Amino acid sequence: MKILVTGGAGYVGSHAVIDFCDAGHDVTVYDDLSLGMTDNIDIRATFVEGSTHDISLLRDVLSQGFEAVVHFAAWKAAGESMVDPKKYSHNNMNGTLNILNIMMDLNIKYFIFSSTAAVYGFPEYLPIDEDHPVNPINYYGYTKLAIEQNLKWFSDLQGLRYAALRYFNAAGYDVKGRIRGKERNPQNLLPVVMEVASGIRNSLKIFGDDYKTHDGTGVRDYIHVNDLATAHIKALDYLVDNDKDIVLNLASGEGFSVLDVINETEKVSGNAVPYEIEGRREGDPAELVSISKLAWAHLKWKPVFSDLNTLITSTWNVYKP
Ligand code: UD1
Repeated sequence: MKILVTGGAGYVGSHAVIDFCDAGHDVTVYDDLSLGMTDNIDIRATFVEGSTHDISLLRDVLSQGFEAVVHFAAWKAAGESMVDPKKYSHNNMNGTLNILNIMMDLNIKYFIFSSTAAVYGFPEYLPIDEDHPVNPINYYGYTKLAIEQNLKWFSDLQGLRYAALRYFNAAGYDVKGRIRGKERNPQNLLPVVMEVASGIRNSLKIFGDDYKTHDGTGVRDYIHVNDLATAHIKALDYLVDNDKDIVLNLASGEGFSVLDVINETEKVSGNAVPYEIEGRREGDPAELVSISKLAWAHLKWKPVFSDLNTLITSTWNVYKP
């Protein structure tokens, strides 16, 4: 199938591009390179440098016989979205609606959307399943939820078929070492820990050590990017085979604390990871773990690379000096 992958030069997108190419799809990456890197793009894919705000370029490109769009291009830092919401409404909402409107004009039916655990907000129970109420507590999560709601309207009114994939904490790097581009200006725990272990930063701040978790630090459900990538291929197959929409969680079902991540990184790298304890970060729940019931039921998808050692080893392979 001819597929456009927006954000295909970015962190999760570049891993998915490899799998779409492996599955025999004809892939074009559409990326403005604001965070993505051309080195990340599989050589089997065609590359078009462009923004989701460039409506005429998008229309020209999408007019070339595409049947599906896999949409990764978005901002993803929850904290930043609370201080610069316009950046998020512009890219995550306007940019996505531009694509959807053009897709509908051109009768392009299939859409795979990178959504997030942030649509749920504070957990009311754990593990979080897809029946958990959605109530984002940051603007980033709201932009993703707003698009999910639009997707339902596009489906009901215009025949779009979509998968909204709610990622928990995306982490790790390609286990075969094919993606080497480090995330620029990372704010997530794993790349920050890696920057400390490799000497790019001196130390790390742990946001709170007094949570009711096994060691007092925040627990998250880290899902390996290769596992995320696989789910996108299966989601597209599902849309085509079943002609039905799906909204589902992508998570490992297991939680690791900040200290678990630091300890494993010290073991794998052989380097010290110095840290200081800071106060809690606003908006951080103690624990966030999920169950990917629907991904198994509908896609027969289960994570295979999301154990702590594989997460850390595959990331260290990219970060080690
Ligand atoms: C991440 C994303 C968020 C996304 C969510 C669910 C960011 C910054 N966060 O949130 O957008 O919606 O996954 O998909 O992109 N921590 C430290 N020190 C640090 C960094 C993190 O102690 O320097 C702790 C946090 O308090 C938390 C854990 O590490 O307990 C994970 O944090 P992070 O990687 O930022 O992810 P989330 O906040 O869970």
